Amino acid sequence: MVAYDCPWATQYYGLPKKYYYIWRFMIDRRYQKQGFGKEALRLAIKFVKTFPCGESKACWLSYEPENEVARKLYLKAGFVERLDLYKEDMEIPAIFEL
Ligand SMILES: CC(C)(COP(=O)(O)OP(=O)(O)OC[C@H]1O[C@@H](n2cnc3c(N)ncnc32)[C@H](O)[C@@H]1OP(=O)(O)O)[C@@H](O)C(=O)NCCC(=O)NCCS
Repeated sequence: MVAYDCPWATQYYGLPKKYYYIWRFMIDRRYQKQGFGKEALRLAIKFVKTFPCGESKACWLSYEPENEVARKLYLKAGFVERLDLYKEDMEIPAIFEL
């Protein structure tokens, strides 16, 4: 899912509400490790870059600290981990400049 103008961007991480937000990103267990996650993320970024809901400087997402598969996938795609915004018991945010 892709969100925009999302209140918890500011509430949880102090990010601008007008950043795009990719969430609930998941691939059916039966189809994992076949490249679909990488391709779906590429297409999601491509979609966000059309600014479907309005102008924005960045797109963000977050992941559980122990979710190394998701972390690597996002960082490889160009997201930058923002440990400075991370607080205990929350997910780690990462940002992709548009
Ligand atoms: C994270 C997720 C979306 C990745 O989807 P996927 O289709 O399996 O990913 P891909 O096949 O495109 O693989 C992407 C990379 O992750 C690696 N990878 C995927 N599953 C892996 C696993 N279980 N263990 C180790 N590496 C794995 C692949 O080898 C690939 O690495 P590469 O870029 O070095 O080649 C999927 O594992 C998933 O839905 N997980 C459960 C939900 C979840 O955690 N979502 C993220 C929430 S923030």
